[in-house]
Amino acid sequence: MQTITTITELRHALAESRKTDRCVGFVPTMGYLHDGHLALLRESRIRCHVTVASIFVNPTQFGPTEDLSTYPRDFLRDETLCSAAGVDILFTPDAGEIYPAHFTTFVEPGELARPLCGAFRPGQFRGVATVVCKLFNIMQPDFAFFGQKDFQQCAVVRSMSADLDFPIEIVTVPTVREPDGLAMSSRNKYLTSDERKRALAISRALFTAEAAFRAGEREAKRLTDTARRHLTELDQLQYLELVDPDSLEPATSPLGRRTVLCVAAYIGSTRLIDNVILT
Ligand code: PAF
Repeated sequence: MQTITTITELRHALAESRKTDRCVGFVPTMGYLHDGHLALLRESRIRCHVTVASIFVNPTQFGPTEDLSTYPRDFLRDETLCSAAGVDILFTPDAGEIYPAHFTTFVEPGELARPLCGAFRPGQFRGVATVVCKLFNIMQPDFAFFGQKDFQQCAVVRSMSADLDFPIEIVTVPTVREPDGLAMSSRNKYLTSDERKRALAISRALFTAEAAFRAGEREAKRLTDTARRHLTELDQLQYLELVDPDSLEPATSPLGRRTVLCVAAYIGSTRLIDNVILT
């Protein structure tokens, strides 16, 4: 595996692959890798000849009072994991490489960035769309892989990629969970052992609603009420919403063929998100 920190070097390394028409898969991350990231790398390795991963804690997607400075980082461990996972090129730019002093241009995502997390973390998806757009331009991959846990991010990236004509297939990979159901997230590291136990309420709530859906319940309010009953122990429930998976608009009853139940909540000072697709 080559570890590369500059755009020039990365372009040079990838030019070789393109000469021989090899398919390039890209897995963007902010590091502190877990099994969810490894599932993205595995998927890229299955579909593509060359897998490029990036580790970049993107400052523009954090709000001024958010956890940019404390976001967990362990570069050596991540590098070992990437190498063991068969990554060909690991791109680890510093902030000045991606956002040089003269940087002024941002990608403004549309309607998909407004509800759910967009309502609570203004600017987050502008930062995500901007950095992903830049990374797509830098790598020019054939495929890019994102985790379903960040469902709204997947929708925003998919629409950004289509709107800006990137010839890239965006692949959403199912959420990887701990054996007890908690969705894997780098932010789980912030949880104390008591918070870790209480965080389980999130997946429990989603699974209960999913079971009710499977048993035939199609009323949106009854499904969200069923889920909400599990969420009383959380410190702050930001949203629990059933939405259309394409438009992210509130789902109407009776539910159609596919909806997604999304949740965001604080456990202590840690904000976690999760979702389940009801189909
Ligand atoms: O999901 C993430 O880790 C980040 O939002 C991403 C896609 C790497 C962009 O910074």
